[in-house]
Amino acid sequence: MIWARRVWPFILVVCLSVFSGGALDLASDKAALVALRNAVRGRLLLWNLSEPTPCSWDGVTCQNNRVMSLRFPGRGLTGQLPLGMGNLTQLAIISLRVNALTGPIPPDWASLASLRYLYLQENHFSGGIPEFMYAMQSLERVNLADNSFSGEILPLINNLTRLASLLLEKNNFSGSIPDIDIPSLIQFNVSFNRLNGSVPKRLSGMSATAFEGNSLCGQPLQACPGTESGNGNGNKLSGGAIAGIVIGSFLAFALIVVVLIVLCQRRSGGKSSSKDFAVGKRAEGENAREKAATVESESTSASADFSKGSTRAGGSKSLVFFGNIKKAFDLEDLLRASAEVLGKGTFGTTYKATLEMGMAVVVKRLKEVTLPEKEFREKMEMIGNMVHVNLVTLHGYYYSRDERLLVYDCIPMGSVSALLHGEHFFPAFR
Ligand SMILES: *[C@@H]1O[C@H](CO)[C@@H](O)[C@H](O)[C@H]1NC(C)=O
Ligand SMILES: *[C@@H]1O[C@H](CO)[C@@H](O)[C@H](O)[C@H]1NC(C)=O
Ligand SMILES: *[C@@H]1O[C@H](CO)[C@@H](O)[C@H](O)[C@H]1NC(C)=O
Ligand SMILES: *[C@@H]1O[C@H](CO)[C@@H](O)[C@H](O)[C@H]1NC(C)=O
Ligand SMILES: *[C@@H]1O[C@H](CO)[C@@H](O)[C@H](O)[C@H]1NC(C)=O
Repeated sequence: MIWARRVWPFILVVCLSVFSGGALDLASDKAALVALRNAVRGRLLLWNLSEPTPCSWDGVTCQNNRVMSLRFPGRGLTGQLPLGMGNLTQLAIISLRVNALTGPIPPDWASLASLRYLYLQENHFSGGIPEFMYAMQSLERVNLADNSFSGEILPLINNLTRLASLLLEKNNFSGSIPDIDIPSLIQFNVSFNRLNGSVPKRLSGMSATAFEGNSLCGQPLQACPGTESGNGNGNKLSGGAIAGIVIGSFLAFALIVVVLIVLCQRRSGGKSSSKDFAVGKRAEGENAREKAATVESESTSASADFSKGSTRAGGSKSLVFFGNIKKAFDLEDLLRASAEVLGKGTFGTTYKATLEMGMAVVVKRLKEVTLPEKEFREKMEMIGNMVHVNLVTLHGYYYSRDERLLVYDCIPMGSVSALLHGEHFFPAFR
C-alpha cells in the first residue's frame, strides 16, 4: 500500500512528461519541418537533416528549445502546406510571403496558439479564413493580401483583441465588412475584393484606398445610396423614426379618443342623479337628467334674450337657487324683467333686472366660461354657500349651453358694480 502511494504519483509524472514532451519537443518540431520540406518545392530547404536540431536551419529560429519562427520569404516555394505544422506549437512568426504556395491554410494551424505574426501575402493561397483563426488570441499582424482567399470576414474578428494590422487586399473576399471594433487595429486594407455594404463607423477614419475596388459605400467612400452626404445610414434611421412618430402619434390620438369615449359613457351612464352635462354633446335625454338634477322646478320655456341658443332645450332649464332662499321668481320672470346695464367686466356684463313684481336683482351674464357644467355647478354651490358681510350674496344661477347667469341680491348703495368687477369676487374663475 505504502509502495503504491509513493509510486503512483511518480508514474503519473513520468507519463505526463512522456506525453507532453513527446508531442511538444524540439524533435517533433524537427519532424514537422521535415514534413514541410517534403511537401513544398523551392530554394528552402537545403537543410542538413542529420543535424540534431533544426534551430540552425536557414529561416528557422528557436527559443526555449522550441521552434519560434519560420521565415521563408521569396524562396520560390510552390505546392501546398502540409499537415503537421500544427505541431510547432510555439511558433510566433510565420513568414511565407512572396512565394507561389497554393491551397488553404492547413486546419491543424488551429493549435498554433502562440502565433502573433502571419505573413502569407503574395502567394496563391485559397479558401476562407478558417474559423479557428478567430480564436487565435495572440494574433497581432495578419497579412493575407494578394492571394485568392475568399469567403466572408466574420464578426468574430472582434475576438482578436490584439490585432494591430489586418491586410486582406487583392483577394476574393465577399459579403460585407463586419462591424469591426478593435481598438488596437491601426492598419487595415480590404481593397480589391468583392465586398459590399457600408464601411463600419469605426473604420471610417481610414484612407479610402483601404476600401477601393469593392462595392462599398459610406465614409471615407461615397455616401451609400439613399443616404444624405456621408451620414452613413442616418437617413434610413430618420425614415424609421418618422414612421415611428407617425404611428406613435396615431396610437396616442386613438388612445385619447378611446379614453374620452369611456369617460363620457361613464359620466352619462354612471351617476343618473348627477348634474353632469356632457360637454360637447346635446342629447335629448340629458335635458331630463338635468331637470331631475336641478334644484328647481319644471320651469317654462326659456327662449328670450338671455338664452337664444338654448331653445332646443325645450324649456327644462331653470334657475337654481341656493340653500334656504326660497324661489321668488323663475327664469321667465327674469327674462321679462326690464334690464339696465350696470357695467361690463372681464367676466361679462352686469345688469340690474327689475322684475315685474317690483323686486330688483343683479344679473351677471358670464361670457366664455369654459368650465364644464359639473364643475360650474360645484363652484356655484360653493360660492352660494358663502355667507359674508363683505360678499354680495349669490342668490342663484342659470346654466345652459349658451348662457350662464349669476343672480345676486341687489344692493341699493350702488357699490354693486364695483363689487362685481373686483377681481377678488370670482376667485373660482381665475
Ligand atoms: C550535416 O550535419 C552533420 C551533423 O552535424 C555533419 O556531420 C555534417 O557534416 C553536415 N553535412 C553538411 C553537408 O554540412
Ligand atoms: C505531430 O504530432 C503528432 C503527435 O502529437 C504525431 O502523431 C504526428 O506525426 C506529428 N506530425 C508531424 C508532421 O510531425
Ligand atoms: C473568443 O476568445 C475567447 C478567448 O478570450 C475564446 O475562448 C473563444 O473561443 C473565442 N471565440 C470564438 C468564437 O472564436
Ligand atoms: C472569386 O470567387 C468567385 C466565386 O465566389 C469565382 O467565380 C471567381 O472566379 C473568384 N475570383 C478569383 C480571382 O479568384
Ligand atoms: C490598400 O491596398 C491597395 C492595394 O495594394 C493600395 O493601393 C493602397 O494604397 C492600400 N491602402 C492602404 C491604406 O493601405
